[in-house]
Amino acid sequence: MSFTTLLVTFAISAALSGVVDGAAIQRRVACPDGKNSANNAACCALFPVLEDIQTNMFADSGCADAAHAALRVAFHDAIGFSSTDPSQGTGADGSIFIFAEQELGYDANLGIADAFNLEAPFIAKHNISVADFIQFAAAVSLTKCPGVLQPPFMFGRVDATAPAPNGTVPEPFQSAADILSQMQDAGLSASDTVALLASHSIAGADDIDPNAAGVPFDSTPSLFDTQFFVETLLNGTVSGNNKGQVPSPIQGELRLQSDFELAQDPATACLWQANVNNQASMARAFQQSFAKMQILGQDASSLVDCSDVIPAPPALSASQQQAFFPPGLSIKDVQQSCQTAAFPDLPTAPGAAVIIPSM
Ligand SMILES: *[C@@H]1O[C@H](CO)[C@@H](O)[C@H](O)[C@H]1NC(C)=O
Ligand SMILES: *[C@@H]1O[C@H](CO)[C@@H](O)[C@H](O)[C@H]1NC(C)=O
Ligand SMILES: *[C@@H]1O[C@H](CO)[C@@H](O)[C@H](O)[C@H]1NC(C)=O
Repeated sequence: MSFTTLLVTFAISAALSGVVDGAAIQRRVACPDGKNSANNAACCALFPVLEDIQTNMFADSGCADAAHAALRVAFHDAIGFSSTDPSQGTGADGSIFIFAEQELGYDANLGIADAFNLEAPFIAKHNISVADFIQFAAAVSLTKCPGVLQPPFMFGRVDATAPAPNGTVPEPFQSAADILSQMQDAGLSASDTVALLASHSIAGADDIDPNAAGVPFDSTPSLFDTQFFVETLLNGTVSGNNKGQVPSPIQGELRLQSDFELAQDPATACLWQANVNNQASMARAFQQSFAKMQILGQDASSLVDCSDVIPAPPALSASQQQAFFPPGLSIKDVQQSCQTAAFPDLPTAPGAAVIIPSM
């Protein structure tokens, strides 16, 4: 038998068995719309939603306000959950919108009205659960932000029949210990908490400083990069005195008290520092913890993996992956909190300190 025949035979038997080198070949199903295909026929229902929100909901299409709002509400909805106390909500269940009148009145959800106003008309138009819509929109929103790894999406959530109570969403003025124990109770470890906070790399505060909206947490709010973890470890010199806020290291940046405390807390300090200039590991950890968060309270075995419907996010260039000290700052400004590893060697960016605005 010639080499070519061997290859052909192998290719055919691999196709028949659906397995090559132990990895399953996904046989894609053609969707009834005649243009899309998916790994599971159930996922076809998501394409009209995807098309609509891409065109009309994320019309600005960048890693900016609409994307940030969609991501934020996904967490606020999901975290209404306790692994020990059923009265604390049923997780990623859509309750934040289904019971908006009640949940949007909680202090911690101040500002979630933006997400409600953004998403409600699209939820009304499409026949998927509110819970699924919220998490689907969040997964799609992430793909606007260069540096994110392919966001997962499981489909088939059951909607809430009751609101989550007041107090399930961590607040920026809570202590690190309180936040970690609340997250732990929901099923998210200290390392999941730090992993999920990579989202602050592409976020800003709307409701902390009454005189400024959308103040970013790092100097590159339109990139999912590791700058957030660098800049939260720099000595705060620019005052910020609102509730839940502490001084930040550069003008135009806002630091949450909770981010500062988690950066400094012995339980999380080394996890925090480990993300500095470690794009691949930060992005992978976020992807995994985000997957956990997205299905809190849901029966995972009854969900269908529709991650293949989520578009591929853009990558960071090599230079965008390089963490740096903002202009004028250096290792001397680092408030070292991890006792077991040296702070990575980083270059200082040239020029004057500036925030690169959201695209
Ligand atoms: C939620 O709880 C906070 C803190 O206990 C309290 O100040 C606030 O009034 C409560 N809000 C509602 C709407 O019950
Ligand atoms: C909505 O979707 C469900 C399945 O999730 C289906 O049973 C129902 O017929 C759909 N309704 C409409 C109006 O398409
Ligand atoms: C941090 O900044 C404050 C305020 O500018 C300053 O007093 C302090 O010396 C700085 N600490 C370090 C370690 O640089």
